[in-house]
Amino acid sequence: MEPDRPAPPDIRCHAVAKTFGTGETAVAAVAPTDLALGPGTTTALVGPSGCGKSTLLRMIAGLEPVTEGAVRIGGEPPDALRRSGALSVAFQDPSLLPWRTVRRNVELARHLARLPRDDDFVAALIAMVGLAGFEDRRPAELSGGMRQRAAIARCLVTAPRLLLLTNLSVRWMS
Ligand SMILES: Nc1ncnc2c1ncn2[C@@H]1O[C@H](COP(=O)(O)OP(=O)(O)OP(=O)(O)O)[C@@H](O)[C@H]1O
Ligand SMILES: [Mg+2]
Repeated sequence: MEPDRPAPPDIRCHAVAKTFGTGETAVAAVAPTDLALGPGTTTALVGPSGCGKSTLLRMIAGLEPVTEGAVRIGGEPPDALRRSGALSVAFQDPSLLPWRTVRRNVELARHLARLPRDDDFVAALIAMVGLAGFEDRRPAELSGGMRQRAAIARCLVTAPRLLLLTNLSVRWMS
């Protein structure tokens, strides 16, 4: 981390819970959960398929409304941090825009975060994830792993202070 960058904020979940639907068909996806993740730490959530990992991460990112409780990142709700690009999320499904090339998908994240264009940084990140030479390909022309790596480059292009990664299966090419 550069010396002038502030320390990453901590993540706190206060009795955060999620129920999808109501009545007989309700699914209790996440039971009330307290979580305190210190600044600058790396934590893995591990559990069987369907146990609520992605739902919890989506709530931490402010992408899924909580049914109960509250999420605080550096003492604040997560939305502003995510919109500014300081909090990035890589989904299980890479969710790249299919009509945009790899380069333009990565560039879009900076644009949406209202950060200035940085062609060199975009190129460096695409190379770092092993996709140099594929900048002008669209997602449908890539393998699943390549799409996930493109999504990681898109996450990193805003130089986030927090990174949430969901079920990524990534093999870096050496
Ligand atoms: N939008 C939704 N509507 C209804 N139920 C949902 C929704 N999203 C998730 N669920 C349910 O919530 C539970 C937790 O799902 P979640 O995606 O968080 O699991 P997970 O731990 O990430 O699983 P995996 O390891 O397979 O990715 C599951 O029972 C799932 O069916
Ligand atoms: Mg999941």
